[in-house]
Amino acid sequence: MALHTSSLHDTREAMKERLSGIVPDFEIDMKAELVFEINRIKEERGAIILGHNYMEPALYHTVPDVVGDSLELARKAAETDRDPIVFCGVRFMAETAKILNPDKLVLLPAKKAGCSLAESITAADVRALKARYPGVPVVTYINTYADVKAETDVCCTSGNAAQIVNALDSDTVIFIPDEYLAGNVARETGKRIIFPVLDGQSPQTDEALDYELIGWRGRCEVHEKYTVEDIKNARAQFPDVTILTHPECSPEVVEASDFSGSTSRMISYVKQCTSKQILLLTECSMGDNIAAENRDKEMIRLCSIRCPHMNEITLEDTLNALRHNQYPIEVEETIRVKAKLSIDRMLAMS
Ligand code: 13P
Ligand code: SF4
Repeated sequence: MALHTSSLHDTREAMKERLSGIVPDFEIDMKAELVFEINRIKEERGAIILGHNYMEPALYHTVPDVVGDSLELARKAAETDRDPIVFCGVRFMAETAKILNPDKLVLLPAKKAGCSLAESITAADVRALKARYPGVPVVTYINTYADVKAETDVCCTSGNAAQIVNALDSDTVIFIPDEYLAGNVARETGKRIIFPVLDGQSPQTDEALDYELIGWRGRCEVHEKYTVEDIKNARAQFPDVTILTHPECSPEVVEASDFSGSTSRMISYVKQCTSKQILLLTECSMGDNIAAENRDKEMIRLCSIRCPHMNEITLEDTLNALRHNQYPIEVEETIRVKAKLSIDRMLAMS
């Protein structure tokens, strides 16, 4: 959570206290000035900074007013009366904040900060799926862009995906675009899943639906890299380790782990678990962020995968966002209104 200090000196000291052993002192010395200036301008402008759990530790622990997973940040974006909203996360998250706050200035500190899942599907793909499976409800992972959400009945996040699918009470659901999240939801809800091949995206005649989830072959470029072999090796080296995975990992990896949940659920799990040694199979910065807050636990540092998109968000860029209003998120109004319905439904259902 944001540091509330009245001088650069106090900011530096507070950062050292919070981040000792996690971020080297020389890095804190370099970054303290940026942190102090960001928090000063943020107050002056009445801005709010929302920070995803994957932000690097020197940012995560110092400038966001709220940190969380996609669901918590979407909820906060829906509630806030502050303006501008600076989103330290990736584009689809900032876009969600803009969809919920059309009259506010929403800033993403990096020009692109994409996501391999959001890039994996287009609005035309969703229209082709709907034409092939008329009347089947579409549940779309929040890791998508506004035009895809606009074709959607209900959004979901990793924190509520199974709950939303169950609540729809429909024999068949189109669940897009994460192949692995769909597999994990199928496991959790006891549903069967197919991945249809669309014929040049053109609608085909309906078939007898003898499956319950219709998926899409999108993947997170970070979580797809973890393997069951990684888990076996970790357990061989650290027999008492507790292994946590994100549901964007393959169902085999999730099955082999001890707990799987959204980024915030993993954080809560670490806080309450009695195991001293913990390995997170997710974006690496989160392990450092958790280590800073759980000094009694040993976070096993086998992790080497950073999300290149989350990694684009730096303290320098966050300061520039506040100083120069960069980079404003825009969503075309007819798309925004339709996309908002799918987000509102999700917030009402979870
Ligand atoms: P969470 O909603 O669990 O924070 O996940 C977002 C994400 O992009 C994970 O890769
Ligand atoms: Fe997208 Fe994966 Fe990065 Fe999350 S970690 S933003 S799903 S690429």
